[in-house]
Amino acid sequence: MKNRPTVLITGATKGIGRALVDRFAPAASDLHVVARNVQDLRMLKEELSALDCTVHVHPCDLSDPSAVKQLIVDLQKEISHLDVLINNAGVYLPGLLLTESADNLNYMMQLNVLSQYDLVRGLHALMPRGAHLIHMASVASRKRFDGKPSYSITKHAQGIMIDAFRHELRPLGIRVTSVMPGPTWSHSWEGVEFPENRLLAAEHVANAVWHAWELPPEAVMEELVIRPFDGDIE
Ligand SMILES: NC(=O)c1ccc[n+]([C@@H]2O[C@H](COP(=O)([O-])OP(=O)(O)OC[C@H]3O[C@@H](n4cnc5c(N)ncnc54)[C@H](OP(=O)(O)O)[C@@H]3O)[C@@H](O)[C@H]2O)c1
Repeated sequence: MKNRPTVLITGATKGIGRALVDRFAPAASDLHVVARNVQDLRMLKEELSALDCTVHVHPCDLSDPSAVKQLIVDLQKEISHLDVLINNAGVYLPGLLLTESADNLNYMMQLNVLSQYDLVRGLHALMPRGAHLIHMASVASRKRFDGKPSYSITKHAQGIMIDAFRHELRPLGIRVTSVMPGPTWSHSWEGVEFPENRLLAAEHVANAVWHAWELPPEAVMEELVIRPFDGDIE
């Protein structure tokens, strides 16, 4: 059994991030959680209060580059070592390239890609050999879906960034995993009517990530693709 890790999860209050919190918090010594809504973060800390895990909340809008910069400065002061960094926060904004607001792509590039770029660059020096960097990518990292090309552009860009981080972090002994879930029940699917089995549960994704983390340091699950059994929703 590994020592109790220090874990950082972005987008920790809802959806897949919340399920990751439930999976990792019982095993963690310290858990750092990031999201925008302070009330949700406080509630999350309260819900975890019975666990033997110190929860640190970091309200931050990761779509704002200056807020990301400040977050990194704060974390560098607060954390002595970081065993698991889970870049989960991300957003899907629908639209078509020719008609959507150009802000769509800019916003998603900042949140889905550039904030993660900054966090890894700013925090990797705190990560010891055997530490684990995990990015929440998507099945849209590999193919285009109708109605969400800009999201797919950001997830493709994130994919090559993850691969390059893997290459650069390998000599430092840091494992890198790209998680590519298919449609997963979360806040972003609210109001859309599907049979229950057409969406993964966030817990399925969190369990798969947990198994990747559980591997010994000499092995790495580099990519993890997980879909509902009946496939993607086109
Ligand atoms: N759900 C799916 O079908 C699916 C499939 C494949 C991949 N993914 C990927 O999985 C990740 C999580 O998706 P999800 O559907 O679980 O998300 P979600 O349910 O919408 O939750 C998003 C989380 O991120 C936080 N967040 C959103 N915008 C933020 C910002 N600007 N700054 C900081 N935190 C922010 C939210 O809290 P606040 O609102 O308080 O900030 C919340 O905790 C994303 O990267 C997504 O692309 C999702």
